[in-house]
Amino acid sequence: MIQAAHIVENANPDVIDINYGCPVAKVACRMAGAGLLQDVPKMVELTAAVVKSTSKPVTVKTRLGWDDNTINIVEVAERLQDIGIQALTIHARTRKQMYKGEADWSWIAKVKENPRMTIPIFGNGDVDSPEKALEYRNRYGVDGIMIGRAAIGYPWVFREIKHYFATGELMAPPTTEERVEAARQHLRHSIEWKGEKLGVVEMRRHYTNYFKGFHSIKPYRSRLVEEYSPSVLYSILDEIMEVYGELELT
Ligand SMILES: Cc1cc2nc3c(=O)[nH]c(=O)nc-3n(C[C@H](O)[C@H](O)[C@H](O)COP(=O)(O)O)c2cc1C
Repeated sequence: MIQAAHIVENANPDVIDINYGCPVAKVACRMAGAGLLQDVPKMVELTAAVVKSTSKPVTVKTRLGWDDNTINIVEVAERLQDIGIQALTIHARTRKQMYKGEADWSWIAKVKENPRMTIPIFGNGDVDSPEKALEYRNRYGVDGIMIGRAAIGYPWVFREIKHYFATGELMAPPTTEERVEAARQHLRHSIEWKGEKLGVVEMRRHYTNYFKGFHSIKPYRSRLVEEYSPSVLYSILDEIMEVYGELELT
């Protein structure tokens, strides 16, 4: 962990966020990610070592506990604060829940209500709209909200929430052009990052989200997920723009 902290320091990040939330078996069952929730002394020791080894603020993201019978987030939050983390994000599920069932934010409220806690607490789990963001912020008293799945293929969720918090009004959804442009940019970055073949293939799972609400998009989507050539893919995106540009989205 100390070595990893030194490697990421080279990128000059604003913070180093340690992920003790990952539930997948190959991580969590090897005493990494959410696995550390089963050994709090080890989690504390690892985190303390990272805090001591870097001048960057260290933050943590974790879950409520390993399973329903071992929810320990109130203790974990206190102990991590005591060894110097600067903020904590809580995904309000247990490791056992993976991504299923409803996130139970009442545990996040318990952490916030603990008079010993002073660091910012960010809530995470199931927030997918401006209304829900406001409701959860007010009901559970968090200092911030993290959003995962609702942002996949819909990065506008952040500006929509900010706008709603600032004005109390729902802003207009993104235009067709913004959506198509975002898909195009994502494809371009995916290819730059992963190489042509993998970049094209990994992008396939995202088209459905980018084009949610585009009626009769299915034939275009089929072509997008079967095609390997980037130039053909870009031209299909051009076609979508031409066809849907003037239409009202639902
Ligand atoms: C496909 C996928 C990949 C994820 N990868 C990470 C990750 O690398 N690091 C992390 O902290 N959380 C990761 N998460 C968890 C999310 O950040 C978030 O905690 C979780 O999805 C609950 O929030 P949500 O209901 O807003 O999605 C991932 C979630 C999904 C669905």
